[in-house]
Amino acid sequence: MPTREHPRTFRVKSLGCQMNVYDGERMAELLADQGIAPAVDGQDADLVVLNTCHIREKAAEKVYSDIGRLVKAGGDNPPMIAVAGCVAQAEGEEIMARAPAVGMVVGPQAYHRLPAMIAKALRGERATDTDMPADAKFAALPPRRRVAPSAFLTVQEGCDKFCTYCVVPYTRGAEISRPFGELVAEAQRLVEAGAREVTLLGQNVNAWRGEDAKGCATGLDGLIRELAKLPDLQRIRYTTSHPADVTDGLIAAHGEIDKLMPYLHLPVQSGSDRVLKAMNRSHTVDGYLRLLERFRAARPDIALSGDFIVGFPGESEAEFGETLRLVEAVGYAHAFSFMYSPRPGTPAAAMNGQVAREVMEERLQRLQAALGRHQLAFNQASVGSRCAVLVERKGKKPGQWLGKSPWLQSVFFEGDAAIGDLVEVELAAAGPNSLAGELLVPAAA
Ligand code: 5AD
Ligand code: SF4
Repeated sequence: MPTREHPRTFRVKSLGCQMNVYDGERMAELLADQGIAPAVDGQDADLVVLNTCHIREKAAEKVYSDIGRLVKAGGDNPPMIAVAGCVAQAEGEEIMARAPAVGMVVGPQAYHRLPAMIAKALRGERATDTDMPADAKFAALPPRRRVAPSAFLTVQEGCDKFCTYCVVPYTRGAEISRPFGELVAEAQRLVEAGAREVTLLGQNVNAWRGEDAKGCATGLDGLIRELAKLPDLQRIRYTTSHPADVTDGLIAAHGEIDKLMPYLHLPVQSGSDRVLKAMNRSHTVDGYLRLLERFRAARPDIALSGDFIVGFPGESEAEFGETLRLVEAVGYAHAFSFMYSPRPGTPAAAMNGQVAREVMEERLQRLQAALGRHQLAFNQASVGSRCAVLVERKGKKPGQWLGKSPWLQSVFFEGDAAIGDLVEVELAAAGPNSLAGELLVPAAA
């Protein structure tokens, strides 16, 4: 590679999960700390970071087409390209071999070393760093400076569950928990930087374990209790949970901590015990339903969300029917559903009984129709009630604002408000994906 000039502008393109969004924000802060400015919207950047996702197929192909597009658009002066995220971790060597325009490949646990990699790239050397050190990354990142009212905070990374369809244990590595004190300090800084809501992130967020300030062992509920003491932090959320790591303390926290929002994302994947076993999910349908009942007992208005996979190898029509029955039994407020995608190196990719694409498509349609019905019903049931809305941005129409209800619904309203406000709204009309609200003006004192 030829030597290059130091990049003046950068762009980070994050695909995939919220943890990638968090990583993308941290990479942007790191690059800004190096004196590189974010590129203005619509203008080319000198350095482009493709922060990739590997959870379902076509991810790698998408990376190559993005690289091709960047090279073409750059003409004689293509940008410096870094491939980050889970595709970088899983396929770093192939990327380096196949895409000479890529100067850097950096895995999700190594991106704090981007500045050193840029220095190498300036000397014309290509660099790959996909090491998985246990905990070095966060300590090496610059402090948070300016964030949106709703901010992410990664508390836990990696996964030891090895569901048979999933690449995460291979790309993100073993479960690690960031230390309690470091997280409380980062949350405090987020609040100082403008956050009113913090969403605690982890591939298995409720597997988080640590020691509190007194040195006592604690779980996610202990961390949430501590964060709830931060005076200017109004709301706490967490995602994604695993049924096997739900504790009594976490369920109780939903009934006891006002700042903990009434929302639970608890993936189930399938409504069939046979399929769950083949997926290595370590829970049954009944066990999952009993957990949901306990959350509902602690917090009756809790909004439930889940993840589903249709067409896992060997899934019969009757087994898919059990998933539909589970959906009817739970009444989800929101959910994500996917067609099974064989991932290289995972046990399920080598299983017999791969389901035909047309069958998966048809099952996904039926599942999404059912989930959509429940989502609309949940939103409609909120009409007429009053709730607090955290204002996140301006709406499309002049004078309009968009924010989130406690149940993570998007709410539009008009009136006197500002980004970061927590306002009282009466929910007036519901659609499948959002609600219209009316701002309640507080009575003059
Ligand atoms: N195919 C389809 N969906 C998958 N997920 C994870 N791996 C796969 C795969 N191979 C889904 C699961 C998980 C969510 C993050 O992505 O539902 O909960
Ligand atoms: Fe993947 Fe299962 Fe771990 Fe979730 S719990 S990240 S689906 S292996």
